[in-house]
Amino acid sequence: MERREFLGSIGSPVLAACAVCMAACSKSGSSGTANTGASANFTINLSTSLLTVGSSLVQSGVIVVRLAASNVPASFTAVQVNCTHEGTSVNYNSSQNNFVCPNHGSTFTTSGAVTLGPAVTALKQYNISISGTTMTVTG
Ligand code: FES
Repeated sequence: MERREFLGSIGSPVLAACAVCMAACSKSGSSGTANTGASANFTINLSTSLLTVGSSLVQSGVIVVRLAASNVPASFTAVQVNCTHEGTSVNYNSSQNNFVCPNHGSTFTTSGAVTLGPAVTALKQYNISISGTTMTVTG
């Protein structure tokens, strides 16, 4: 069988499968897609949440962490929870005082700056204000 005859005999199903595969592969480049943080505006009751240093919670796409004991904005940080590489939720690592993505290992400072790739874009950091025991996160 000649090459041309062989290619003609396998026909369009194989070509269609290749087209699907190539389309899928083109979406998973190693550089990933930048995920940007969404807008947020919510409150947290500090008399019942984030009571201990190193504790964290996730709300509205934002991870909020208590870094120090007193109820002032500098004692907390709030950044987007989705990694800027491919969107996996990052975790706060209290022993390293940073955010770590469990998917490909990117790390970020508590203010969201990249310290280790493959992520290249910082996590969005949100504004924190506190009145009494009510924290408001906006951005
Ligand atoms: S999704 Fe790849 S490092 Fe976070």
